[in-house]
Amino acid sequence: MARLNQIGIALSSERDLDKLLSTILSEARKFTSAEAGTLYSVEGDKLRFLVTQNDALDQLDGRGAYPISTPGQSMPLSRESMAGYVALTGEVINLPDVYAIPPDRPYRFNSEYDRLDGYHSQSMLMVPMTEPDGTILGVLQLINALDGAGQVVPFESRWEGLVMSLASQAAVAIRNVRLTDELKAAYLDTVLRLSVAAEYKDHDTANHIRRMAQYSAVIAEELGLDAQQVETLRCAAPMHDVGKIGVPETILQKPGKLTEQEYDEMKRHTEMGASIFEGSDAPVLRMSGTIALTHHEKYDGTGYPRGLRGAEIPIEGQIAALADVFDALSTARCYKPAFPVEKCLEILRESAGSHFNPEVVEAFIRRLHDILAIRERYASAQALR
Ligand code: C2E
Ligand code: SIN
Ligand code: SIN
Ligand code: FE
Repeated sequence: MARLNQIGIALSSERDLDKLLSTILSEARKFTSAEAGTLYSVEGDKLRFLVTQNDALDQLDGRGAYPISTPGQSMPLSRESMAGYVALTGEVINLPDVYAIPPDRPYRFNSEYDRLDGYHSQSMLMVPMTEPDGTILGVLQLINALDGAGQVVPFESRWEGLVMSLASQAAVAIRNVRLTDELKAAYLDTVLRLSVAAEYKDHDTANHIRRMAQYSAVIAEELGLDAQQVETLRCAAPMHDVGKIGVPETILQKPGKLTEQEYDEMKRHTEMGASIFEGSDAPVLRMSGTIALTHHEKYDGTGYPRGLRGAEIPIEGQIAALADVFDALSTARCYKPAFPVEKCLEILRESAGSHFNPEVVEAFIRRLHDILAIRERYASAQALR
C-alpha cells in the first residue's frame, strides 16, 4: 500500500507522458513478477500500443522493440481480441494459459504476436485503465508471471485489485497530461488568432509569430534558462506585438519608409502592448507584458521606449529582440524584401554589442541549424488551422 501511494504521487507529478507510461508498466510488472507487458490506449475504433516491455526479448537481442507491438502501431478495437474485450467491457481477464482459452469465451488469443516476436506467452492478466467516471482509456496487459525459479505461473487473483488501482491512477495521470496539452494548444491557438487580429494588416503574421516564438525558445535553451522558463517564453513571445492593435493601418501597411512622426507612432506599440497585460497574475501574461515593453530596447541604450541598456533589459526582452529582428530580416515585409540568410547573419554579427547582447547573438549562431529548421517548417503562408 505504501509503495502504491508513492507511485501515485510520482505519477501525478510526472509531465512527460512517455516516461509516465513506462513507469506505470514497469511498476505493475514488478508487483506481479511479470516478464512482459504492454499498455494500450483506446483511440476511436482502434487500440494503440503505447509501451511494450519484455525482459526475455531484451536479453535475447537487446532490441527492446518488437515487430507488431511497436509503440504507435494499432489494431482494431474488437471484442474478439483480448485487449479489445477488456477495453470494451471493462472486465478483467486473468488466464493461466492463453493457448487454452475456454471455447465459450468471445475472445481469442492472437498468437501472431508470439510468432513474430519469437516469444511464448502463457499466463496473462489484462485490466482496464479506468477513469473515476468509468471511462476506459486503455488496457494494461501483463504477460508470464514468473515464480522464484523463473517458471511461468498463473497471475494470483489477489494482485488483480492492486493492478487495477495502478491502472486507474495511470488513467487519471494520462487524462491530466492530455488536459494540460489541450489547454496549452487552445491557449496558443487563441494567442495566434488574437495576434493575427491585432496585426491583420501584416501578411503571414501567424507564421512570423510561430517562428519568432520558436526561435526565442531555442535561444533561451542555449543560454541555459531552465525548462520551465523556456516554455513560458515560448508561450509569451507570440504576443510581443499585440500593441500594434493601436497603430493605424495606414502606418502598418505603408509600402515605403515611415516618416519620423509615423515611426514615433509605431513605437508606441511597445507600451500599448505592455498596458494590455498590466496587472495580470499569470506568469505567461506577465512575461508577455515584459516582452511587449522591451523587445525594441537595444543593448547600447539607443532603443525604445525607455532607452534601457545592457542588463537593465530583461533577458526575455533581449532574446525576443534578436528573434524578432532575425525574422524581420530573413522574410519579406511590406517595406523591405527578404535578405539571404548570410546577409542576415552579417547584420546580426555587426550588431553584437550595439543592438544585441553578444552572448545572445553567440547562442543564436551556435543553434543556427535548429533556427533554420524552424524557418523551413513555418516558411509558407499557411492559414491558421
Ligand atoms: P518589423 O517589420 O517586425 O521589424 C522588427 C525590427 O526588425 C525592426 O524594428 C528593426 O529593428 C529590424 N529590422 C527590420 N528591417 C530591417 C532592415 O532592413 N535592416 C535592419 N538592420 N533591421 C531591420 P523597428 O525598426 O523598431 O521597427 C518596428 C516596426 O515598425 C517594424 O516591425 C515594422 O512593422 C515597422 N517599420 C519599421 N520601419 C518601417 C518602414 O520603413 N516602413 C514601414 N511600413 N514599417 C516600418
Ligand atoms: C489480444 O489478443 O488482445 C492481444 C494479444 C497479445 O497482445 O498478446
Ligand atoms: C504484445 O503482443 O502485446 C507483446 C507481447 C510480447 O512482448 O511478446
Ligand atoms: Fe515590435
